[in-house]
Amino acid sequence: MRLRASKHLRDLSNDTDFSRAKLIQPLFVGEGLKDDLEIPALRGTFRQSIDGVLKQVEKDLEAGVSQFLLFEVPSKKSERDFDLAFSEKAIHAIKSRFGQDLFLWLDTCLCSLTSHGHCCVFNELGQIDLDETLPEISRLAAHYAAAGADGIAPSDMMDGRVAAIRESLDDGGFDQTPIMSYSTKFASNLYGPFRVAADSSPKHGDRKGYQIDVRNRLDAIESSIRCSNEGADLLMVKPGMTSIDLIREIEEKTGKRVGAYQVSGEFASLVLLSEKGLTKFEDAVQESWHVFRRAGAAFIITYGARFAKAWGYPS
Ligand code: PBG
Ligand code: ZN
Repeated sequence: MRLRASKHLRDLSNDTDFSRAKLIQPLFVGEGLKDDLEIPALRGTFRQSIDGVLKQVEKDLEAGVSQFLLFEVPSKKSERDFDLAFSEKAIHAIKSRFGQDLFLWLDTCLCSLTSHGHCCVFNELGQIDLDETLPEISRLAAHYAAAGADGIAPSDMMDGRVAAIRESLDDGGFDQTPIMSYSTKFASNLYGPFRVAADSSPKHGDRKGYQIDVRNRLDAIESSIRCSNEGADLLMVKPGMTSIDLIREIEEKTGKRVGAYQVSGEFASLVLLSEKGLTKFEDAVQESWHVFRRAGAAFIITYGARFAKAWGYPS
């Protein structure tokens, strides 16, 4: 207990360093929006117009955020041959305004673009058509890179997508664009607020046909190893808190850095607890971040990145 007796000693002897450089802030840019749309229970998170996002980023940069993960929410949905004009405009607006002041990751998936809300293209029988899906996803990745994205973050869980994306980025001259793969992503009940933000709820069924079954540790490890072998630069587990048992093993088996995505439902649960007076929001969020770091997360994607400076985290 001796080393716990004062804040000086606790800070001196803590074994997980933490800085804001480890945090990535999600952003949602929506087409055809007049006002910012606040997302239920995700404190401080909005779906915003391009102008709204530019204002948000300006504030976030002042608040010490440097890494962003952008989700595009176009108004036109289709089954394939997606309209990419909106995302091009949005990415271009952000990067031409802020340049190298920020690092802009693009979540790369089809579920905000498809009329059915799934992360893939289906064939006539209603089965996942990988031969159609992989080219669409890799086209999306190259398009994002061409529009100015700094990094690509595929979240679809289709087999082979990292290899397909890597090839398409390299062919497009973007061989230095990194891939941060959602490499171990479970079919979870904790994505609810996000699906409102991204307008990406499946119109039928669920995502259990492609996201990992929470009961399966081996699948979870294998999925990250596969992404690593296909060329992912950074790996990720998601939801973060329900995957903390996997972080170190994935790191050891792949030799790559593994981040944690504190997903919308995890974050929102802390907001809701605090709204009921049952916890203190900022303390609970910080506790969760320190647990991710203790569990070995190299970085954290969190809706609370924009609060970190005010809470005293160094750059
Ligand atoms: C889309 C995607 C999802 C999330 C990130 N990218 C939702 C899903 O898979 O249904 C979840 C993020 C969150 O809940 O914060 N493929
Ligand atoms: Zn998706």
